Amino acid sequence: MSSFRPAPAWLADAVFYQIYPQSFADSNGDGIGDFDGIRERLDHLAWLGVNTVWLNPCFASPFGDAGYDVADYLNVAPRYGSNDDLARLVDQARGHGIRVLLDLVAGHTSDRHPWFTASADDPDDHRYIWAAEGRPDGFVASPGSRPGAYLPNFFTFQPALNFGYARTDPAEPWRQPVDAEGPRANREALRTVMDHWLGLGLSGFRVDMAASLVKDDPGKTETSKVWTELRHWLDRTHPDAVILSEWGEPEVSVPAGFHTDFFLQFGGPTDGLALRSLWSNGSGTVNLDWDPLDCFFDPSGKGSPRPFVEAWQQASAALGDSGFISLPTANHDFSRLNCGPRSAEQLPVAFVFQLTWPTLPAIYYGDEIGMRYIPDLPDTEGSVLGPAYNRAGSRTPMQWDDGPNAGFSTSDHPYLPVDPDPGRPTVAAQRADDTSLLHLVRRLIALRTSTPELGPDGSVEVVHAGYPFVHVRGGRYLVVVNPREERTSCPLGDLRPGRALEASGVVTDGGTLTAEAFGYGIFELTP
Ligand code: GLC
Ligand code: CA
Repeated sequence: MSSFRPAPAWLADAVFYQIYPQSFADSNGDGIGDFDGIRERLDHLAWLGVNTVWLNPCFASPFGDAGYDVADYLNVAPRYGSNDDLARLVDQARGHGIRVLLDLVAGHTSDRHPWFTASADDPDDHRYIWAAEGRPDGFVASPGSRPGAYLPNFFTFQPALNFGYARTDPAEPWRQPVDAEGPRANREALRTVMDHWLGLGLSGFRVDMAASLVKDDPGKTETSKVWTELRHWLDRTHPDAVILSEWGEPEVSVPAGFHTDFFLQFGGPTDGLALRSLWSNGSGTVNLDWDPLDCFFDPSGKGSPRPFVEAWQQASAALGDSGFISLPTANHDFSRLNCGPRSAEQLPVAFVFQLTWPTLPAIYYGDEIGMRYIPDLPDTEGSVLGPAYNRAGSRTPMQWDDGPNAGFSTSDHPYLPVDPDPGRPTVAAQRADDTSLLHLVRRLIALRTSTPELGPDGSVEVVHAGYPFVHVRGGRYLVVVNPREERTSCPLGDLRPGRALEASGVVTDGGTLTAEAFGYGIFELTP
């Protein structure tokens, strides 16, 4: 039995939409997306039906890691507007029935954050993890008058905040216990930051690298306690707010206190197998660059839905009704749905699955029109993480219409180049076409929102765990997806599909169901 207050009721109905602020809509023509740009597109988001937007970090930053190097947690980066502009966006979003979550970078700051520059000059400051002398493995030499070295959390310019170590060792005196003064100050700072933004009307946070806080922490026991303490505080002070972790292991993060956690391209004992086996083509243009796995949603038909279903079963049994698992189409760190062997025509099946499975769906901006991963872009604000790993390809400007830079910006120097393909999808073209992916996604969101059986709390029964994949929701709705480029069929037993709520290329004949290439359907079952 969880000791937390139940998640706020709105969360079960959440359809997340992730906005990469620098790439969404540029209102003032400087080439970078901003708050007013997002505000001007709220009508569109409301039309689409998404109700919870999460924004990547929009705080003051030198942008060595696109804003994940925060230099001031309480003030936004001027390139996005002012704190007042953010407040106006949040307020108007609420008027459209849309909540906004910010990104809480909990584990590290920028090396330009005043906490760090002070710490680099003061040997008695323990907000960060300092070796007093020398430079132990993994540490970076002090940039200040303080001797010794600090521990980074990701890039070298992202010093780890000190939340202590689960295990101390006299030979390594920088391993402070979790209740030392530095860790206590940092836990308090997290509350201050959250309180500040929640007070402005924000609805919660996506928490960056949430598993990274306490170092050398087997089973993440001590890191979990930090979040448990924070959740108890939230339950008392901001009971309507939620925290959504970037952790990738809901069976650990949700019992620790998160209301929900993503299945990600990494995380947990199987290192992200649930999502990787479904549709994450890693980072590059070709699946094999990253991961030799055949995704279930690849056209070859070599994948299997089983690793996903098994991981989901395990995690959801561990969670019970204490929280939710979130299923993203993609995010700013890995490839879009339209990548590798998968093209835009193959995306409807993925959305039918995502929007009918008992997880919380998270749509990465542009996936709803089938924007593709763009290969071979320049390294932009720390996008490159390895020879075959450039995140810029998933971060290109939103494609709105046929105007300059696809309607993203009037600047000659957009944040990243727009997809150069003359046939690139746009919102305007797809809104004008009832048969488009965008319209399908909109109808699926509406169906899910008006049908409790399709939400995260409805039951699910897997009828056929292969090609086609067939499942029943709430004992009433039969869902069929065939991601394969060939016709497939399976026996249906006693199930009798009636009225089609959404269908393309699926027929039943007696007890057999047949799905054409990339066919899908959602049917009411006849009792
Ligand atoms: C998370 C973010 C990623 C960032 C890293 C360091 O994984 O999603 O974009 O580079 O943390 O903050
Ligand atoms: Ca701008």
